[in-house]
Amino acid sequence: MVVIGGSASQKLAAEIATYLDDKLALIETKKFPDGERYIRINEKINSDEQVIVVQSTGYPQDENILELLFILDTLEDMNIKEIILISPYLGYSRQERRFKDTECISAKTISKLIESRNIKSLITVNLHEDSIRNFYEKPVYNLSAMPAIVKYLKTHQSNIIKNKPVILAPDKGALNFAKDIAIDLDTEYDYLEKVRLSPEKVETKTKNIDVTNKDVIIIDDIISTGGTIVNAIKILHKQKAKDITVICVHPVFVNDAILKIYAAGAKDIISTNTLKSDVSSISLAELIAEKIKLIIN
Ligand code: R5P
Repeated sequence: MVVIGGSASQKLAAEIATYLDDKLALIETKKFPDGERYIRINEKINSDEQVIVVQSTGYPQDENILELLFILDTLEDMNIKEIILISPYLGYSRQERRFKDTECISAKTISKLIESRNIKSLITVNLHEDSIRNFYEKPVYNLSAMPAIVKYLKTHQSNIIKNKPVILAPDKGALNFAKDIAIDLDTEYDYLEKVRLSPEKVETKTKNIDVTNKDVIIIDDIISTGGTIVNAIKILHKQKAKDITVICVHPVFVNDAILKIYAAGAKDIISTNTLKSDVSSISLAELIAEKIKLIIN
């Protein structure tokens, strides 16, 4: 097998190649002065070799998607028969339906672009909506990063987990992440709920657990502007929580999101490496490599 890393995911591609004990292909990517992209695969690959292409399609989404298509089409021109695509963060996954009339269902458009290429299957991580898999006819494996997050906490953050922190979802949508982590760490979990106190007054607070004097780990799938997490931290401070650690799967981090979260009082921010960021400490290489092994056997 040969592993190819697009420019959005080269370190992760290298780590996956190491886990699989496979060759990491050399690829040249650049942008011309007018902004157009160029790629070249600088490697002889036999047409009967399996190729793993790793490319997340986060910011700049359009460029990373186009680069991915360039790579896939070049491999097709090289007569490669079997390609598995790893796109740990699949851009445009937050527009999987029409929220208003006549909106473009962007996730569906992206699926058409990818599906029409010569890929055997797609591996991704914590899709914002699992139903996006239905846009594809080819197999889409939507991995959960939670086991890798738990493993990282047990191995590298024993100081955080020794105090039995409450695992908190900032909304009900993220409750399953909190539950998965809490069960594994044998600790409590909860979510923030909006309660209407009167026609004029809404209060957001933890649904079941009093976090007073307790450490808290907030877990979410995506942090984008950081607004959701900053709001959660403010509420937890009002409830007199102690140390607050923030964990996410996809570190989108628009503009100063990291700074805003630290400034709000987070003790630490930790994310996986589905996207590159200053806090992408949890590698999903092993999780992804194990799935590749299962698929190809
Ligand atoms: C929402 O459904 C997601 O799970 C995240 O909570 C949301 O995308 C975070 O966005 P932001 O960081 O901009 O508040």
